[in-house]
Amino acid sequence: MGSTVIRGGTVVTADLSYPADVKVENGKITEIGPNLSGDTTLDATGCFVMPGGIDPHTHLEMPFMGTYSADDFDSGTRAALAGGTTMVIDFALPAPDQSLMDALKVWDNKTARAHCDYSFHMAITGWRREIFDEMEQVVDRGITSFKHFMAYKGALMVNDDEMFASFRRVGDLGGIAMVHAENGDVVAEMCARLLAEGNTGPEAHAYSRPPQVEGEATNRAIMLADMAGVPLYVVHVSCEDSHEAIRRARALGKRVWGEPLIQHLTLDDSEYANPDWDHAARRVMSPPFRNKRHQDSLWAGLMSGSLSAVATDHCAFTTEQKRFGVGDFTRIPNGTGGLEDRMPMLWTHGVATGRLTPNEFVAITSTNIAKIMGMYPKKGAVMVGADADLVVLDPKAGKTISAATQQSAIDYNVFEGHAVTGLPRFTLTRGRVAVTEGKLDAREGWGEFVARTPRGEVNRALSAWKELSAPRPIQRSGIPATGV
Ligand code: URP
Ligand code: ZN
Ligand code: ZN
Ligand code: ZN
Repeated sequence: MGSTVIRGGTVVTADLSYPADVKVENGKITEIGPNLSGDTTLDATGCFVMPGGIDPHTHLEMPFMGTYSADDFDSGTRAALAGGTTMVIDFALPAPDQSLMDALKVWDNKTARAHCDYSFHMAITGWRREIFDEMEQVVDRGITSFKHFMAYKGALMVNDDEMFASFRRVGDLGGIAMVHAENGDVVAEMCARLLAEGNTGPEAHAYSRPPQVEGEATNRAIMLADMAGVPLYVVHVSCEDSHEAIRRARALGKRVWGEPLIQHLTLDDSEYANPDWDHAARRVMSPPFRNKRHQDSLWAGLMSGSLSAVATDHCAFTTEQKRFGVGDFTRIPNGTGGLEDRMPMLWTHGVATGRLTPNEFVAITSTNIAKIMGMYPKKGAVMVGADADLVVLDPKAGKTISAATQQSAIDYNVFEGHAVTGLPRFTLTRGRVAVTEGKLDAREGWGEFVARTPRGEVNRALSAWKELSAPRPIQRSGIPATGV
């Protein structure tokens, strides 16, 4: 590959916007400045040159609820690039009794066709000596974040004692604890009651998971993480109840990050009242979509900094798969797509409406994620030496989202009909131009695994504090006599 110069654009990072050309060689950024020249020139006039999006939350080819999510690392990473996302972090899920390292092998094998870079989080779905021991090997492989499901009782869910033990271990290994925060016991009870009362349709999925189950679990996870001395990342924050717990914890100095999804920011619970069963079922995910009050809270969190990242939780199921749940909403596979749409939807509803600055957009779609997840500035930066994962975003280019033109393998799109602006004029993955004005030139197997670094600044600060404030016996000069 010769050199490429992205010319005439405005470089936008998380903290600065300035006019400059960007030179790329051998997959890295090698120069930033005026009047650069190279073998190939990409015209960025009128565009913003940003770090490519990082989606910290995807489930590609995930075994779940008796099936597999329909987008794999082929269609999923094509969708990512088409929308300006240049890296995904997927969840390795060990089956019951499977070792963590065996689960990792399974996930390694899924990625052979990846078109962009990727990494994994490791899910802790049970607790035993072998898991405790293997967590160190997982960290040594560059997988530094561990996910805990507080919901999906009888399947992925872990109990508080297991979660607390795992949190402690993650803290000692210099990693990050992650939670899907919903009270799984209460959800199971509400599902059974709703079904018994004849509430079988997709709308009952939302009735079974009110904001309180999320707020309670988020608060519980925060307190457990605080006691365990581990940084905590709360995935798919969907409501004020959960956001309030995170906001309060952060104001008290606790190391907690919250991640809303583009779906929760832009789609609301009226979707479940749609008379078309398929329409409602296609939008069944956990947590469910919420009302406007909760959406406003999430936007305010992104604007004020109490929420840190926007993801998709891309876990796409076809209409046929969703129909497993006809007559019993608890059998509808939980999950929605969004990989191709996250960046343009957030630009349209965030930056174009004046809720977010372009710099904040970069922070929450890329830079914050790279920092939290231990891979900055290799990823998430427009900086000499960083990987040339870049999006040249044209704020004037627009389209109407449609399943007919998407990369995702499913037969619908939850954002169908939404008009968006802010599309990639070019998307570069480690210097390779994969998108040119809507035309995808992806390459199977181009994507590489990104090993991440444990014991980041936040972990070190937390460890120093833990050491200083650890329980210690009081040294006393005299010991009173006991007994008579
Ligand atoms: O409904 C969802 N979110 N499905 C994917 C699995 C998860 O809970 O993240
Ligand atoms: Zn989840
Ligand atoms: Zn998820
Ligand atoms: Zn819209």
